[in-house]
Amino acid sequence: MKRRVGVLISGRGSNLGALIRAAAAPDFPASVALVVSNEPAAAGLALAAAAGIPTRTLPHRPHGRDRAAHEQAIQDTLEAHAIELVCLAGYMRRLTPFLVERWAGRMLNIHPSLLPAFPGLDTHARALAAGVALHGCTVHLVTAELDSGPILAQAAVPVLPGDSESELAARVLAQEHLLYPAALRAHIEDRAMRPAPGASLANPLPQLRSEP
Ligand code: GAR
Repeated sequence: MKRRVGVLISGRGSNLGALIRAAAAPDFPASVALVVSNEPAAAGLALAAAAGIPTRTLPHRPHGRDRAAHEQAIQDTLEAHAIELVCLAGYMRRLTPFLVERWAGRMLNIHPSLLPAFPGLDTHARALAAGVALHGCTVHLVTAELDSGPILAQAAVPVLPGDSESELAARVLAQEHLLYPAALRAHIEDRAMRPAPGASLANPLPQLRSEP
C-alpha cells in the first residue's frame, strides 16, 4: 500500500511536480493524495489539479496573527484526507510547534542549501557572496527550529566561476527534483541515504543523475 502524502506549497510547485512524477511509478512507496497551498495564486495548485490530485487553498491572512488557527485548519484538512506523511515543497511559511509536533518524524522539507549552511531565505545569493565552492540542497525532517531538523539527504553542485544567482539556482533546483523523491522513498523504506562508496574527497556529496 502506498503511503498517503500531503504536499504543502506556496508557489511554483516544481518540487511538487517532481514528487507527482515519481509517485506515478507503481513501485514508488507513496502517492500524492492532497496538495495544500496557503497562497491562492500558487501555480502548483493547477499542476496538482491537472494530475487529478485534490487541492485545498488555506490562506493564512484571514487568521491574522493566530498561527494556531491557520495550522488547525491545515491539520483538519490533512486528517480529512487520511494523510500519513507531509512534504513541504516551497511552503514559505514558518510552522509552529502546534503542527510540527503532531507530525514529528513524518514531515519533510526541502531546502536549497547544504544545511546547516544558509538556512532561511536568499540561499543562492548568500552562497555566492560567501564564495563557497560547493552548494546544493537538503531534505530534512521538520522540527520547530527553522531549517534545522535531522538531515535525511543532501546533493551538492559546484559553484562555477562567474555564476549568476539564477544559474546557480537552476543547477540546485535540478538536484532538488531528483533528491526529494529519492529521500522520501528512502525515509519510507527506512534506508539512510549516504554518499556512494568511493565518492571522491574533492566532492564527497553525490550529485544525482536522472534515469536514462
Ligand atoms: C525550492 O527551491 C525549495 O527548495 C525552496 O523554495 C523553492 C520552491 O520551488 N524552499 C525553501 O526555500 C524553504 N526554506 P518550487 O515551488 O518550484 O518547488
